[in-house]
Amino acid sequence: MKVDRQKIIEEFGNYTSDYDISDPKIKLKVDHTYRVASLCERIAKSIGLEGMDLDLAWCCGMLHDIGRFEQLRRYNTFMDSQSIDHAQFGVELLFGEERLIDRFFDNLEDEEFFNILHDAIYYHSAYRLPEDMEGRLLMFSDILRDADKVDIFRVNVETPLEDIYNVTTSELVESKISDGVMDAIAAEHAVLRDLKHTPIDNVAGHMALFFELIYPYSMEVAREQGYYDKLLNFQSNNFETNKQIKQIREIVNKFYEKSRKKSRQAI
Ligand SMILES: [Fe+2]
Repeated sequence: MKVDRQKIIEEFGNYTSDYDISDPKIKLKVDHTYRVASLCERIAKSIGLEGMDLDLAWCCGMLHDIGRFEQLRRYNTFMDSQSIDHAQFGVELLFGEERLIDRFFDNLEDEEFFNILHDAIYYHSAYRLPEDMEGRLLMFSDILRDADKVDIFRVNVETPLEDIYNVTTSELVESKISDGVMDAIAAEHAVLRDLKHTPIDNVAGHMALFFELIYPYSMEVAREQGYYDKLLNFQSNNFETNKQIKQIREIVNKFYEKSRKKSRQAI
């Protein structure tokens, strides 16, 4: 089994050229894909993987959001809650009747490779991975989920939040963070979809993604590239909300220091 990266890049270009690339939402997902693929490879390297494993990590990134394009065309939104689970949909497009996977690979004999690719994509945006997931599958799933989150921080800074969440600026800067969202953040974990009720809850939910990063390298990159810190410095027009965001900053910074200490001890 050999991964032909050039072919995968070309086929990804062919596939996405059927969609309107002048639509900023489409362009956003194309750029996101390349960045996540590269981050997957870097995270994989940081934990000592090499050879085919680096190819597999990269492929997970390249194909993880393949469902986004058709999701946008059919439903005109990236909000899974208002349309479909884009991760499961992507797997359906790749391995279901349409067999998109055949466009990217000449042979599918390496069963382990494609099982991991399948499951890592399927679960990449799930709130939590299945408890019984383990070994190499867990490792690659974690790599993809970390890479995706790290780049989501960039997207949330470079794209107007109003566009991401389909809300007006005043809705965004006036609203307060719901109690359930603040509780989740205080407990240092991601925010369940059902807990988000106000526009700013989505922003807080993205801040909370940091708690779910698995690999020390992912946290380092997230902080180093600066986007996450910009997100943490979101300015609201609501005095109460700014107080809440300050609280979140403190919780995140403490968590980060704790994690760094832990990973230093592990070395
Ligand atoms: Fe995704």
